[in-house]
Amino acid sequence: MKIVLGVGGGIAAYKAAELSRALMERDFEVQVVMTHAAEEFIRPLTFAALTNRKVITDLFASRSGEEVLASSVEHIRVARENQMLVVAPATADLLARFAHGLANDFLSTLYLAFTGKVILAPAMNTEMWNHAATRANVETLVGRGNIVLPPAEGSLACGEVGAGRLPDPVWIADAVQSLAAARHDMDGETVLVTAGPTQEPIDPVRYLTNRSSGKMGYAIAAAAAERGARVVLVSGPVNLPEPFGVQVVRVRSAVEMRNAVMAKLPESTIIVKAAAVADYHVANPPKQKIKKTPARLSLELDPTPDILAEVGRNKGDRLLIGFAAETTALVEEARRKMASKNADMVVANLVNQEGTGFESDENEVTLVMRTGEAVQVPRASKKIVAGRIFDQALKLRLALHALHDA
Ligand SMILES: Cc1cc2nc3c(=O)[nH]c(=O)nc-3n(C[C@H](O)[C@H](O)[C@H](O)COP(=O)(O)O)c2cc1C
Repeated sequence: MKIVLGVGGGIAAYKAAELSRALMERDFEVQVVMTHAAEEFIRPLTFAALTNRKVITDLFASRSGEEVLASSVEHIRVARENQMLVVAPATADLLARFAHGLANDFLSTLYLAFTGKVILAPAMNTEMWNHAATRANVETLVGRGNIVLPPAEGSLACGEVGAGRLPDPVWIADAVQSLAAARHDMDGETVLVTAGPTQEPIDPVRYLTNRSSGKMGYAIAAAAAERGARVVLVSGPVNLPEPFGVQVVRVRSAVEMRNAVMAKLPESTIIVKAAAVADYHVANPPKQKIKKTPARLSLELDPTPDILAEVGRNKGDRLLIGFAAETTALVEEARRKMASKNADMVVANLVNQEGTGFESDENEVTLVMRTGEAVQVPRASKKIVAGRIFDQALKLRLALHALHDA
């Protein structure tokens, strides 16, 4: 596969040399494009020697000492000839130019003309990464379907410690390879996924929660993004890296999760509710910390909004997939839940087994379908299980359409 490696003017530009090698080793044909700022950090000759190819640095060929031909619209040729554009390091400045459609050098002009998959690996000082302007630019780019590989945490060249490091070049090359190999049977879908637990405040410092790690929901979001879907992940508090190319909306309580889901519902085509939402909360938690006394304390709990049921009532022809974590009577409970919530599929898992369910990296589930079918997915990594859920979901939608048309 032919790819462009765009190199921005950041301190991590030197790592792009190793990345170009790692990509060549994975059989990519690599065309390097450097910004002028990148040339301040590393010479084009390094990339030319590593890739056996002339490096592009100028939008106007005459500036690099070449004759300008009437037909040489180089940025369009490069855009048409390559299937992927990987930018590493993507500077704050490049993210801003891409997000706002500026075309003032070769790389930004190429970005606008490019119709293939775009992968951006930002690297910068932590404050620059956390700045509202950069956050908004990243959100715009992710919303547009660009895949943003989140920067790693660690000590930075500026002496600070935090998020902003360019991930290891071999890791980036592996990510590019797996994205290049991905199937594209979910292009055009918008998948709304919920994941993780919720936290229901008892007072300003205490909360009720559950053992959900969010791993299943995050695997589902990653699987859909890899297959070409636009993905919005509404996540409760978890400690997991954000999946590539996924728009993450962070929430804490069941009420916040309900509001985020209902706001994103209209733009979604498939909804997967993998979050373990608290069933009860303290409706009006006190503003002050509850003092410890020797007396018994009772908490009065009210039910939280039933998000699955509300989505079920408003889903139209969207595909709704719920989860049922049970300790007994798995399939019966799943069927009951499917009927009462108007879901199209319920992913049922036993949560009292060793090594599957909450917190583990593997899962073993039964997919109970509206058509009456129940498909067993044997024990496998949550990523593989996520893939099987979408294989069945896409088939189910065809079957439901056929039933509807009959
Ligand atoms: C020593 C030095 C290190 C820099 N490192 C970074 C960096 O890591 N990330 C970043 O976004 N900008 C960094 N900058 C700022 C960019 O070089 C500057 O925004 C430049 O305009 C980027 O141009 P480009 O986006 O066309 O490559 C650095 C600047 C200097 C002088």
